[in-house]
Amino acid sequence: FTVYVPRDAGALSLGAEATAAAIAAEAARRGVDVTVVRNGSRGLYWLEPMVEVATDAGRVAYGPVLADDIASLFDADFLHGAQHALGHGLTEKIPYLAKQERLTFARVGIVDPRSLDDYRAHGGYRGLDNALKLAPAEIVQTVTDSGLRGRGGAAFPAGIKWKTCHDAPADQKYIVANADEGDSGTYADRMVMEGDPFVLIEGMTIAGLAVGATQGYIYLRCEYPHARDALNAAIAAAAAEGYLGDNVRGSGKAFHLEVRMAAGAYICGEETSLLESLEGKRGQVRFKPPLPAIEGLFGKPTVINNVVTLASVPIILDKGSAHYRDFGMGRSRGTLPFQLAGNLRHTGLVEKAFGVTMQELLEDFGGGTATGRPMKTVQLGGPLGAYIPPSRFDTPMDYEAFAAIGGMIGHGGLVAFDDSVDMAAQARYAMEFCAIESCGKCTPCRIGSTRGVEVIDRMLASKDRDKDEALLRDLCQTMLHGSLCALGGMAPFPVLSALDHYPEDFARTA
Ligand code: NAI
Ligand code: SF4
Repeated sequence: FTVYVPRDAGALSLGAEATAAAIAAEAARRGVDVTVVRNGSRGLYWLEPMVEVATDAGRVAYGPVLADDIASLFDADFLHGAQHALGHGLTEKIPYLAKQERLTFARVGIVDPRSLDDYRAHGGYRGLDNALKLAPAEIVQTVTDSGLRGRGGAAFPAGIKWKTCHDAPADQKYIVANADEGDSGTYADRMVMEGDPFVLIEGMTIAGLAVGATQGYIYLRCEYPHARDALNAAIAAAAAEGYLGDNVRGSGKAFHLEVRMAAGAYICGEETSLLESLEGKRGQVRFKPPLPAIEGLFGKPTVINNVVTLASVPIILDKGSAHYRDFGMGRSRGTLPFQLAGNLRHTGLVEKAFGVTMQELLEDFGGGTATGRPMKTVQLGGPLGAYIPPSRFDTPMDYEAFAAIGGMIGHGGLVAFDDSVDMAAQARYAMEFCAIESCGKCTPCRIGSTRGVEVIDRMLASKDRDKDEALLRDLCQTMLHGSLCALGGMAPFPVLSALDHYPEDFARTA
């Protein structure tokens, strides 16, 4: 029998290690031959640790399964997929999964992340094999044609970025995966690195071939030790079989890859401070231009993309640009792994084509608030994203549609709050977060964020609220237009959206 127990950090935090050990021990005690495969998570976090059993009809899911449940599962004959109070039937038929369009996450939770054979058996490395038959400019064109835009948040067309780097003459170029996933409520990068690390390695290798880079670095958030282990194991396996190294698949082209651990600063997710940090310096933002694609790591042309962007490349090279482009709406092509977090019944990862509405994500997938109270707001796009009121929940997930209402999809994180949230406190927190994480290079952010906290405090205590609100709005405009990077330049979004949509929360203590 084959039983799957995730080694995903989210599942581990809920007891998956003890669950896996208990299954092995119970099988030994009963004399049953069971192989426990440690897969990634399917992303249904309210069911983690979610155990799956391979049956002739497909995998059958049980969850959440704790060590204490194992004896009763064996008694119920779960190894044959039998009914049990924790049973959910065939995994692929669970509506939460069945309604998704999994392109980038096609293998996550299915394969053994430590097995290159399993990766290949599920379509892995077909994209690289196709890329090896193309000229570098043709690979770049394929990515451009797919419509893929940067999934870190800025949504810049990946193909254009690659072309800039491709066209820059240099003796050395680099590919950098931005894996310093720092947005609140986001975990898609972590899930793909833990659950399908080869897909990131393959995507980076294809990027290297496309632009002529021979060295790649994965700049990994230091709070992700499980992703580090999964990546290092996968890199070693890929190198051992000639997918990395001086002669990738006998092509005569080199591509080497290393993981570098970050040190825990939010600002090091900004691409230029990331590059400073990779070079061993203090993570402080650089002026742009020059763009990293022209003068990046160690002054050399560098493609720096988010993990999900790079992990989406193999399927584009495997199935063609049209296949990918056919998903989505408007200029937002393909799919995005939305990450449902906060006060929701069913938090988890939902990969859907652009165009799904926020309402569908929150209700059909998320199941509404976990507390059962009315939903008051959702912060979309991380700590610098706007608070979206329920009147806007019908907006389709499309970069331009959200820009039009003053929001941004960012890295696809949705953090839901019920009506007990105090929006003035949330606005204050946005300024405080900016003050704590500011790199200090420019004045509007370094000083403005601290003054912002003070003005909000004064406003809540003051009798002349209007004067302080005018000052706060003025300060937000200065930060929006005068900051050097997105941290200071976007911190006003949550503040202004809270002021605009929830003025009553600022009046409470006045
Ligand atoms: P940006 O708009 O300045 O640049 C986007 C990307 O396009 C950069 O990589 C830039 O170098 C590149 N680029 C622009 N013009 C180019 C050209 N002609 N050729 C080649 N490359 C070109 O945005 P930025 O500052 O890089 O990112 C801001 C975004 O980051 C925000 O929208 C926010 O959503 C997101 N963010 C994400 C976080 C996360 O944890 N994923 C955390 C904080 C912010
Ligand atoms: Fe640094 Fe803030 Fe200025 Fe960005 S906006 S460069 S984080 S001080």
